Amino acid sequence: MGTKFIAGNWKLNPAEINQAKELAREVRDRTANCSKVNIAVCPPFISLPAVAELLRESRIAVGGQDLYWEEAGAYTGAISAPMLKSAGCSYVIIGHSERRQYFGETDETVCRKLYAALKGGLKPIVCVGETLQQRKAGQLHDVIRTQVTEALRGMDETSLGDLVVAYEPIWAIGTGVTATPQQAQEMHAYIRSLLNDHFSHALAMTTPLLYGGSVKSDNATELLSQNDIDGALVGGASLKVDTFVPIIESGEELS
Ligand code: 13P
Repeated sequence: MGTKFIAGNWKLNPAEINQAKELAREVRDRTANCSKVNIAVCPPFISLPAVAELLRESRIAVGGQDLYWEEAGAYTGAISAPMLKSAGCSYVIIGHSERRQYFGETDETVCRKLYAALKGGLKPIVCVGETLQQRKAGQLHDVIRTQVTEALRGMDETSLGDLVVAYEPIWAIGTGVTATPQQAQEMHAYIRSLLNDHFSHALAMTTPLLYGGSVKSDNATELLSQNDIDGALVGGASLKVDTFVPIIESGEELS
């Protein structure tokens, strides 16, 4: 089964840096007994340094929610891999469906960002997922294959040792409708088969595959028990310690 990885994507929350620090502190203190599961939180850029400082001596890693592919220069509003590193990040989420939907992210920009993250020594969490319409139209596998293939275009397997892929069906994000464990497992197995086809069996077997989309304490254990589900990328439920910690504890028990 292997070690589970539970990551919280805080999205555009909380509003204040002090609130982000408080949430991080609570998660840190309430998971002090967890010794196996890997944990990360991904706060908004503005809160990263403060949260990373708080979690410095803990087992909880910190990640950015996005990055720009250039390292520096005249790119107003952008944040680069070296900046994330210097803020204390070890992870970065790339190609979240909300970035694709609201900020014009494409498979090509995801690929450029993935290169930049790897070059900058960040562990990328590459997100893929289909809309309900695509699923209903029978395009599910085509959509996921294209997203995975294009994100990894031109990559050298030796650089992908820290790759993490998150399968997040868009219809399950923030809706309270979770993919069934069988639906999630099927897509995770498919993503693993794509990694096997494009790279190697070894990479396919060692790349952590996270499920995201309405993960809650009452469905986490069943999802995380599936063969090819190595962890969870948690949105809403990661914003409160009382809803996030039980998911981490499920991961701890199954690790
Ligand atoms: P929810 O857990 O709120 O559905 O969000 C999932 C997600 O988008 C994590 O990246």
